[in-house]
Amino acid sequence: MTTKITAPAFVRHQALIDWVADIAALTKPADIQWCDGSEEENQRLLELMIANGTMVKLNEQKHPNSYLAFSDPSDVARVEDRTFICSEHEIDAGATNNWVEPKQMRAKLNELFDGCMAGRTMYVVPFSMGPLGSHIAQIGIEITDSPYVVVSMRKMARMGKAVYDVLGTDGAFVPCVHSVGMPLSAGQQDVAWPCNDDKYIVHFPETREIWSYGSGYGGNALLGKKCLALRIASAMGREQGWLAEHMLILGVTNPEGKKHYIAAAFPSACGKTNFAMLIPPAGYEGWKVETVGDDIAWIKPSADGKLYAINPEAGFFGVAPGTNTKTNSNCMSTLGSDVIYTNVAVTDDGEVWWEGKTKETPANLTNWKRQPHTGEERAAHANARFTVSAAQCPSIDPEWENPEGVPISAFIFGGRRADTVPLVSEAFDWVDGVYKAATMGSETTAAAVGQQGVVRRDPFAMLPFAGYNMADYFNHWLQMGEQINQKAAASGNQPPKMFKVNWFRRDENGDFVWPGFGQNMRVLQWIIERCENKADAVQTPIGLVPTYEDINWDQSDFSKAQFDLVTNQDKQQWLDELQSHAELFDKLGERMPEALKQHNQKLINDVQAS
Ligand code: GTP
Ligand code: SPV
Ligand code: MN
Repeated sequence: MTTKITAPAFVRHQALIDWVADIAALTKPADIQWCDGSEEENQRLLELMIANGTMVKLNEQKHPNSYLAFSDPSDVARVEDRTFICSEHEIDAGATNNWVEPKQMRAKLNELFDGCMAGRTMYVVPFSMGPLGSHIAQIGIEITDSPYVVVSMRKMARMGKAVYDVLGTDGAFVPCVHSVGMPLSAGQQDVAWPCNDDKYIVHFPETREIWSYGSGYGGNALLGKKCLALRIASAMGREQGWLAEHMLILGVTNPEGKKHYIAAAFPSACGKTNFAMLIPPAGYEGWKVETVGDDIAWIKPSADGKLYAINPEAGFFGVAPGTNTKTNSNCMSTLGSDVIYTNVAVTDDGEVWWEGKTKETPANLTNWKRQPHTGEERAAHANARFTVSAAQCPSIDPEWENPEGVPISAFIFGGRRADTVPLVSEAFDWVDGVYKAATMGSETTAAAVGQQGVVRRDPFAMLPFAGYNMADYFNHWLQMGEQINQKAAASGNQPPKMFKVNWFRRDENGDFVWPGFGQNMRVLQWIIERCENKADAVQTPIGLVPTYEDINWDQSDFSKAQFDLVTNQDKQQWLDELQSHAELFDKLGERMPEALKQHNQKLINDVQAS
């Protein structure tokens, strides 16, 4: 059904041009634009969206070159129950993913996408996850009918014409098709944020294709991010012997100048951006934390038993609420100019605001639903976000674009738990670390549509992002561990240690006990000193933990009594916790690694005996 279309001279890849022609024949747009990533193109799209009412321009003095988009109130977060992994066999998607037989899904997609871009412009967006042209990069081409997606992808990935130079005449790319799912008939007036109540976020992991329908928001629509760099990349990594993870990467340097890199997996809206940009508190003069990435890590083993991590993204799509100069001053500086905000509130003077930005709520606020803020409803949506280039971050690490990656000294896994899970514990070994990550629980947040604040198992913070069977994913981690442990032993290197943290224990009033943010440095110091065999720990049934005296409390008034509140281990709570781990393992079915099931039984026995 290929129709003839004309591509610009900078596109020399015939198979790509044919694919674009096929998608155009299916979706029937009014017009096709091949994006080159230029500033001129960017400005044109921003102006178009201001004219359409999608966005407003912010106060040029307070927010130079920055914009605010308002989404449809129904299209504000990822839609996990509408996200599909369509492997040939259901077992390969596993018990935690939604699966539809590929043939059936393709028929459904053909129906949905038939004519879905009528009356709209179809944009062809070339992007690279990972530094352009580097050996670790993956190239994607996103076809979209959303100009919001185009300007956002330009910040979040290396987007533009140069991608075609890397692709040449026959390079490999991941085809990504996106539509907001609202065709326009002749003369029909558009809405400010087109979308469709029917949403489909579909992945074919074996043929490495992505199709997204009905949403214009975040991870549903910016297909380089969760769809390519996690779901498709995790499937690639399994085949090729590497890892694609929902992790931040940071570098921490001590006063003697020794630097460690740490990768940490926390579920959505559980503190990755904040931890990645941590500013050490008073008492930590001479310490430095630098940011490599805040959301996604691709991790590859080296011959000497080290793991090297890169951030495949070029920007941050971060949670606005709670961000301020005290909690995350590096982030506030990053937001100094050239930002696209979505669903925050705005003053009549064109200044953005969100809950937690300042103590006082400014007067004359327009809320995220474009209504006057009365104080009864939120001003900013709980999942309101900013989109900004990583290069603007004052704490960005000098190595952040090094395609060789940075060597990882430790992995940290952390959930949002009001009780049970202590502030920090160290795994006994790799298997115990994989167990800790695999059984992580966390309260659900506004990052996904659905009920909030309920504890669910979120293995490796990857529950919504694993592109294949979670039990196979655990096996992959166990195998990677065996491999790097062997290589590390042979070369005398220390394989990464693994830790579990919880910043979110609450007291009887429901308030967080641990101050968090910059104060997390105290836990980070203990972690890296454990890696250097310099800090002490005591053994408990569920891991190695610091005593109050093992933590540096210089210039802190956090008391021993408070420390006990965030570290105590309640026997009955832990027996219940271990029982829910067993339920997860049962749910994961026949491919669930025996080693982790046995470890669960061992922990139950150890806690019983304690
Ligand atoms: P995604 O972008 O959704 O993957 O989330 P993220 O893990 O990067 O989460 P982020 O750092 O944006 O934090 C989400 C929310 O948790 C924000 O409202 C933060 O203010 C809050 N938060 C982050 N770190 C801490 C902490 O140490 N303690 C407490 N109490 N809250 C925190
Ligand atoms: C998350 O939900 O983990 C995010 C935001 O980082 S999104 O890009 O929408 O997935
Ligand atoms: Mn995320």
